[in-house]
Amino acid sequence: MNDPVSAPAHRPAVDAVSGPRARPVGDPVRAWRRLVDTAVLLDGFHTLKHAVRFGAEVPVAVTVDRAAALALADDLAPDVRDRLADLLHEVPEETYRTLVARPHPTAVAALAVRPSRAAHLATLARTPRTTPIVVLDNPRNLGNAGAVIRLAAGFGATGVVTTGTLDPWHPTVVRGGAGLHFATAVERLGVADLPPGPLFALDPEGDDIRGLKLPDDAVLAFGSERSGLSTELRSRADHLLSLPMRPQVSSYNLATSVAMTLYHWSAGSF
Ligand SMILES: C[S@@+](CC[C@H](N)C(=O)[O-])C[C@H]1O[C@@H](n2cnc3c(N)ncnc32)[C@H](O)[C@@H]1O
Repeated sequence: MNDPVSAPAHRPAVDAVSGPRARPVGDPVRAWRRLVDTAVLLDGFHTLKHAVRFGAEVPVAVTVDRAAALALADDLAPDVRDRLADLLHEVPEETYRTLVARPHPTAVAALAVRPSRAAHLATLARTPRTTPIVVLDNPRNLGNAGAVIRLAAGFGATGVVTTGTLDPWHPTVVRGGAGLHFATAVERLGVADLPPGPLFALDPEGDDIRGLKLPDDAVLAFGSERSGLSTELRSRADHLLSLPMRPQVSSYNLATSVAMTLYHWSAGSF
């Protein structure tokens, strides 16, 4: 994963769009094929932008239109523009289409090194903690998981833990999370191994969340889209909390429930 990409003879040392290249580059397609099975796919400009902003190690990045990608960077991400200029290799569209399963409208894709699980577990276990951890108990929908990771990153949550079989680093989750997996600690754990901290489980049958200030070290747990909280998680919860909802509405979407709860925490922490 960490092999430097060596310079081919055919690429110019000065790039027409970005000026002098900051480091030698190699054959991006060969590098891609070597890394793809173990790396994290960053699909689209915004996913790459966020990943780079939050410190991802990106060994290879491609686009079918380097000038267009760097124009986007000038416009939307001047803070990482030089880094993106250094990373992005232009490849023919047919080549790009062989590298990704679903072409992205921005025609940008990259591979990142997956952060170390040990480092994430240390982050999740560290106390005292100044921001909550979100737990998704056996989530089923990849898009929901991505949206939750994006929310957690936006609110500066310490991490997102999933239980069950869904892989929180699945490419569809990373795409849904817009590359913000690199801004928080995302790992899968068993319910018995949840991080320390008071466990607040969200359930329509719980006490009204508005009567309570959520502590900064809260572990905020949400149930599966299909069946809600598991018996195991429910039995470990210190508090069961509900979000306001008028009668006859059964429940909210998982990601919107996380959004409301994180907002409630943030509103009480100032
Ligand atoms: C789509 S809901 C699950 C619906 C599921 N059929 C059930 O039986 O609970 C997914 C999760 O969002 C959270 N949630 C949804 N609406 C909520 C509400 N009004 N109050 C608290 N949590 C809620 C809960 O954690 C719930 O397990």
